[in-house]
Amino acid sequence: MVQFTLPKNSKVKQGKVWPHPKGAVNLTELRIYRWDPEDGHNPRIDTYYVDRGDCGPMVLDGLIWIKNKVDPTLTFRRSCREGICGSCAMNIDGVNTLACTKGMDEVKGVIKIYPLPHMPVVKDLVPDLTAIYAQHAAIDPWLKTVTPAPEKEWEQTHDDRAKLDGLYECILCFCCSTSCPSYWWNADRYLGPAVLLQAYRWIIDSRDEYTGERLDHVEDPFRLYRCHTILNCSKACPKGLNPAKAIAEIKKLLVERQT
Ligand code: SF4
Ligand code: SF4
Ligand code: FES
Repeated sequence: MVQFTLPKNSKVKQGKVWPHPKGAVNLTELRIYRWDPEDGHNPRIDTYYVDRGDCGPMVLDGLIWIKNKVDPTLTFRRSCREGICGSCAMNIDGVNTLACTKGMDEVKGVIKIYPLPHMPVVKDLVPDLTAIYAQHAAIDPWLKTVTPAPEKEWEQTHDDRAKLDGLYECILCFCCSTSCPSYWWNADRYLGPAVLLQAYRWIIDSRDEYTGERLDHVEDPFRLYRCHTILNCSKACPKGLNPAKAIAEIKKLLVERQT
């Protein structure tokens, strides 16, 4: 049996080591966090061996291969398989990222996979996103206007449209918020980088007519000012976005409207 070290006080135990697939010559070892709320046991780490000759190159391919060929109880979220739905976000090799865009060859040695950190777990690699979705809903993430809707479309200059670049691409994977120490400790009151980036996306949209109300909503010692510019969020974003900059821009707008 393969032994590996977990912290002495860890409630996570070493779980099942699944056998090598028959006939495989190129194997990659995956150690995966498992927890089932219905079995009454503490979480465990199961070890699997993926036959790389029979499997696609990404970590998500490995997970799907395991689910299809070895252990159908392994539970994770995925949909698009190309980095646009955000549902396969998890912690791989110590970094929050998307399983579908992370190559198994990018990890040296054993690939360790956990759910996004500091979130309640529904099962295995599936985090409970109920609270963070509620925070997102509370910023009213849609165009709000008082002017009657135009017959054709809301117009915007090229320059104003360009201000949304680096914001509209957010896929709400929450790799950033779950990398943020401030969000770990204050998730009940701090909005965190993903939701604040989304808030800024609507604050800065030239077509939106609720800018003042949107700024009022975030102007709060906890909702906004728990950000201490540690920048873990921007480092974590698998889409190359910069939530910390968006947060700084909100703070700047709040200062400007006081002067
Ligand atoms: S910059 Fe702000 S939001 Fe980003 S990780 Fe640091 S504290 Fe969190
Ligand atoms: S800013 Fe990046 S890491 Fe954060 S939710 Fe959006 S895409 Fe994911
Ligand atoms: S499956 Fe959609 S982002 Fe990975």
